Amino acid sequence: MLEQQKVWLNGQMIPWKSATVPILSHGFSRGSAIFEVFGIHPGTEGAYAYRMDKHLDRLFHSADLLGMELGSSREAIEDGVKKTVRENKISRGLVKLVAYWGEEAIINLVLDSKLDVAIFTVPANEDLALDQPDPIDVCISKWRKIRSDMIPGEAKACANYLNGYLARKDAVNRGYTLGILLDSEGYVAEGSIESVFMVKDGTLITTPTGNILRSISRMSILEAAPKYGIPVSEERYSPERLLEADEIFTSHTGIKVLPVKRIEDRELSPSPGPVTKQMMNMMQSICSLSDPNFKHWFHPM
Ligand SMILES: Cc1ncc(COP(=O)(O)O)c(C=O)c1O
Repeated sequence: MLEQQKVWLNGQMIPWKSATVPILSHGFSRGSAIFEVFGIHPGTEGAYAYRMDKHLDRLFHSADLLGMELGSSREAIEDGVKKTVRENKISRGLVKLVAYWGEEAIINLVLDSKLDVAIFTVPANEDLALDQPDPIDVCISKWRKIRSDMIPGEAKACANYLNGYLARKDAVNRGYTLGILLDSEGYVAEGSIESVFMVKDGTLITTPTGNILRSISRMSILEAAPKYGIPVSEERYSPERLLEADEIFTSHTGIKVLPVKRIEDRELSPSPGPVTKQMMNMMQSICSLSDPNFKHWFHPM
């Protein structure tokens, strides 16, 4: 199915199979590529991209943080997303943008050239499980989140995902769906590819930005929850507090609110709990473009 998709590469539409890089490219062999993933949702007048402006802000911010420059303008990329979504007839699915040094770089570590930009679409399918948030089991990972004075945690760079890979692998080996990483000082940071929220006494609590990815889903939940009557708080908290939470959920572009039913040995029951359920309904209502207060988050394709 994916092989039938067309890919936008530096302004040209090319077949999926041709969207490749040399093994010795900097993006691949040094892991320096940066990327974004955002949702496409069906609306009354076609497909809409979820908060594309925020995702593009973050893409350009990742490039800035790493001293890189994209070879396509913001307007060209916006146009490219539209073109790719339309050409591939996506009504529900994901867009993945990748910016990378595609040329071979055998010795050079620092390159002056601008990044190539590729735009992929992935139609919703069972493997993505976009709209099936079955409650999951999570653990506290033995791996710590990379410190931002080592690699900026706010940059959505492929190299950072080796940290997330290790945490996920460790969790899966221990029989959990995913692992939550603590920061270098022992506070809860985030998951491998997801933010973490806990509920205590009716308040939604999450880690402040600084050493975690500026998740667009996290930002959206923090903006919308108070309008749905749920108070929010951004604070650093210990894993001990997380273990005593009333409710826990994770969040990312693919599944906006994913309830947790067990953390380490502790069952959370019922799962989803009442606040998590309310957040699931809230995001469902927003993402089906039914909430007029948040329609401006969607960009027509
Ligand atoms: C480390 C990390 N945290 C959080 C998220 C969630 O971010 P977003 O809501 O923008 O998908 C991601 C998504 O890929 C991630 O990789």
